[in-house]
Amino acid sequence: MEKIDNYVPRSIDDYDRLYKESVTNPEFFWEKIALSFIWRKKWNNVLSFDFNKPEFTWFNGGKLNISENCLDRHLLDKPNQTAILFEPNDPKEKHQEISYRELHERVCRFSNVLKKNNINKGDRVCLYMPMVPELAIAVLACSRIGAVHSVVFAGFSSTALAARISDADCKMLITADGSFRGNKTIDLKSIADEALVSCKSVKVSIILKRINSNIKLNKIDKWWHDEISMVSNQCEPVGIDSEDPLFILYTSGSTGKPKGMVHSCGGYMVYSEYSFKNVFQYKRGDIYWCTADIGWITGHSYIVYGPLLSGATTVMFEGVPSYPDFGRFWEICEKHNITHFYTAPTAIRALAKHPKSFVSKYNLNSLKVLGTVGEPINEEAWNWYNEVVGKKTCPIVDTWWQTETGGIMISSIAGVTDQKPTFATKPMIGIQPVLLDNNGKEISENGKEGVLAIKYPWPSIARTIYGDHERYKNVYFSAYPGYYFPGDGALTDSNGNYRITGRVDDVVIVSGHNLGTAPIEDAINLHENVVESALVGFPHEIKGNALYAFVILKDDSKSDNISKEINKLISSTIGPIAKPEKIQLVPGLPKTRSGKIMRRILRKIACGEKDNFGDISTLLNPEIVKVIVDKN
Ligand code: WT7
Repeated sequence: MEKIDNYVPRSIDDYDRLYKESVTNPEFFWEKIALSFIWRKKWNNVLSFDFNKPEFTWFNGGKLNISENCLDRHLLDKPNQTAILFEPNDPKEKHQEISYRELHERVCRFSNVLKKNNINKGDRVCLYMPMVPELAIAVLACSRIGAVHSVVFAGFSSTALAARISDADCKMLITADGSFRGNKTIDLKSIADEALVSCKSVKVSIILKRINSNIKLNKIDKWWHDEISMVSNQCEPVGIDSEDPLFILYTSGSTGKPKGMVHSCGGYMVYSEYSFKNVFQYKRGDIYWCTADIGWITGHSYIVYGPLLSGATTVMFEGVPSYPDFGRFWEICEKHNITHFYTAPTAIRALAKHPKSFVSKYNLNSLKVLGTVGEPINEEAWNWYNEVVGKKTCPIVDTWWQTETGGIMISSIAGVTDQKPTFATKPMIGIQPVLLDNNGKEISENGKEGVLAIKYPWPSIARTIYGDHERYKNVYFSAYPGYYFPGDGALTDSNGNYRITGRVDDVVIVSGHNLGTAPIEDAINLHENVVESALVGFPHEIKGNALYAFVILKDDSKSDNISKEINKLISSTIGPIAKPEKIQLVPGLPKTRSGKIMRRILRKIACGEKDNFGDISTLLNPEIVKVIVDKN
């Protein structure tokens, strides 16, 4: 059996050698990596692909069970090691340490609950849950029986939840009686109930008791604790086809409908463990903490699958960085001797606003590696992270990737390759990024700017958009035929280090959350007094970007509570994260002759630009620009 650790670089020479190997003969390379996993049946073919269809298959014909690789595989050599370390929202509530043996048992038990409730291989199960161990357990239980999990972030509204349940035709919803968040409790159950009114596909709902609220069960509801008491704690993993779907995870795009990105079992498994081990250089005994929510891809790949496949101890935190005060992250780092800490630039910027004493109060000597994800990190935040948190002794990995890529694509490797503030730096082993110019031609020299593209498949590329392969093709493979197009711009320095410059499409990254402008405009347009709206992003000190809405009303005399009403609509259709920072009422929007809104101009106005809009004579209504600027 091959050992994956032999392919994890420990020096820059290793990295150079392995990178070269991985791109010279990718199939040979990935075959060796894949051999270190448990396969119930070996594959026939490492890779086949066609960027035009588009179609990608990895380890086709192979059969595996990812939960077996996450759990059973570790029972021999580390049954008593903590797999999940759970830190509750309330620091006074006792934390939990769940060993690999216990996690295995609890996952098996819940797998039997799924089976008992008629969930079979291929069925979709929606998870709308707080950040508690049962969320990870439910995820792993789905994967153990070949059911497809669709985790919906518990900050989404009932409308957003319903849209995701319906899109995937989920047969089951797993939720909780509520969740704790700072000093608040959130009534998840009512939100779920509201969503289910319009979701007839859901036949059973399993409810976890978390906050002990006095909820009433509906006909289809069953308590988690009752269900697990009725089944055995043994469940043999079944072999799932490598290309069978493992999960669906929604991300927003440039039309109103969220995209259900589908990831498959074999390639995702191989890449999530390999990338985790590479980037973080995790060693036995380390305590790794990623502060993301499992409702996002970061949580899927680098709280649950990557770390557990690697036999790591992974921390799950239920709460928020500001509760009970702004020192909570560092208090947890000290309490659990955290060695690896992975968070979002937004969180760093928010914490850096507060006195350093919130950090210096705690002993952070256990920290070895720091990481960031989700958006570009500015130099000031990077320096604060490096100096105040890392005491200049911890490498910082700035990891660029996406829901669609399944795993980290561009990042430095902790302590192995060079880091450079604001640069994600070098491609991961096996990843082949390029910069393309305006004509879609590859830019071969360093020190240039262009759009980022990937020119060769990697194992964890999303295989399709659930129910809409045409859209998958249009969004990612049509603008630049023969490449995967992620939607980001980038530049390289003279050494070929990549710096991500930001989105080049209608997606805005707000506090690390990927927000398509179209669905938010749709929500605003639901207001009876709104004719039309346009949303753009602008730079924001803490959030990275914030949203600016330009709104045309039918009747300007009825504008008293308009901002409040619009915000309420957005919260209820999408969620509070999508609320704009600024709403400006305007008499018209700058449009091209074909009727397209010129967002480029609105973006400039949102940034405070007064003139300098370039040639606006081709607009249908050039005069509107000055009117909007004057009222800004
Ligand atoms: C978009 C993907 C990756 C998991 C969390 C977000 C932006 C992500 C970085 C980074 C600059 C980044 C990109 C990307 N992004 N990481 N290190 N530097 N930008 O996943 O919601 O699918 O969003 O986030 O714009 O395309 P996502």
